[in-house]
Amino acid sequence: MQIPFLDLKRFDLDLKKSLQVKFTTMLEEGFFSGGKEVTDLESTIKAKLESNYAIAVANGTDAIEIALRALQIGPGDEVIVPALTWVSTAEAVVVVGAKPVFWDTDQDGLLASDWDRAITSKTKAVIPVHLYGKMVDMELLIAQAKDHQLFVIEDAAQAFGSAKNGRAAGTWGEIGCLSFYPTKNLGALGEAGMCLTQDSNLEERIRLLINHGQPRRDEHSLIGRNSRIDTLQAGFLNVMLDRFGEFQVIRKRQAKRYLDELASIEDLDLPIGILELDHNAHLFAIQTERRDELQVFLREKGIGTLIHYPKILPEMGIFNSTEKFPKANKIAVNGLSLSLNPFLSDQEQEYIIGQIFTFFKK
Ligand SMILES: Cc1ncc(COP(=O)(O)O)c(C=O)c1O
Repeated sequence: MQIPFLDLKRFDLDLKKSLQVKFTTMLEEGFFSGGKEVTDLESTIKAKLESNYAIAVANGTDAIEIALRALQIGPGDEVIVPALTWVSTAEAVVVVGAKPVFWDTDQDGLLASDWDRAITSKTKAVIPVHLYGKMVDMELLIAQAKDHQLFVIEDAAQAFGSAKNGRAAGTWGEIGCLSFYPTKNLGALGEAGMCLTQDSNLEERIRLLINHGQPRRDEHSLIGRNSRIDTLQAGFLNVMLDRFGEFQVIRKRQAKRYLDELASIEDLDLPIGILELDHNAHLFAIQTERRDELQVFLREKGIGTLIHYPKILPEMGIFNSTEKFPKANKIAVNGLSLSLNPFLSDQEQEYIIGQIFTFFKK
């Protein structure tokens, strides 16, 4: 059996057909930038996440960069970020001229709650990352940030659909950033992202920043850039949104099955809280000291896995950091993501579980 970690060729026929119909309609309408698909996407997500404002942008990395610019963070400023995350979180900070200050994670890969010890007189913001889809304790983090008058930019790129106490990931901080990269729970057929905010002034600034600082055609009130969403991607996302709830049910069912069936393996740490509402089951990341061996074994059995992420950001050499972050590093060394997605069959999941048992019995 060959089981890729995620195979986006496996969209079901209904989904393929709906996407094709959408493409044909859009081709006939001739609107390829802005327009109704974009406003529909923004209003659907605004309503779904109960966010005052939702601004579609070109991708999730831009969403973070635009958020930093909207909050006027730049040279001389420091921004606290977790040591374990996708590179974009810290990269965007460097792109706007500020300095990422890394802090360790907890054992699940979320920014450790004593992050406030990293605050200096230069700190302007903190970026909690809802890694693997699990939300950081936002009540606590927001209270800590308030005490020090810091902005909170939520990196909710992996957490579309997660919510705590009825409040969606991305709607807690000054600005929340979403990614609709194709592999995400809500994925486009290309690049796309979104900024969420509850503040009308920030919304206005974000809209200016993503469109050349242009409030009206040929009027430019600040230096912005082009980070508008591609209309085709907005149209495809509107189709994908119709299936989101159904796909989430499958993800949670698969997560439960892994949890139930792998629980008896002593050498394996399973993700905590993945069945809760504040986790969207984006990734099923296990931890084992035999990670590399297990990955090779599964690969030989035709099973694809991925590592999120094999190196913590401070160790990449590009961020000029020499500090050590033992908890984040442990995940980089021991973490392995098992296939979990709406296109994985029950039979395939059974095979993956069976092979993991075979490995640990050896
Ligand atoms: C945690 C995190 N932050 C930011 C991003 C950036 O999103 P994008 O790939 O849409 O630029 C991603 C997605 O890849 C991510 O997983």
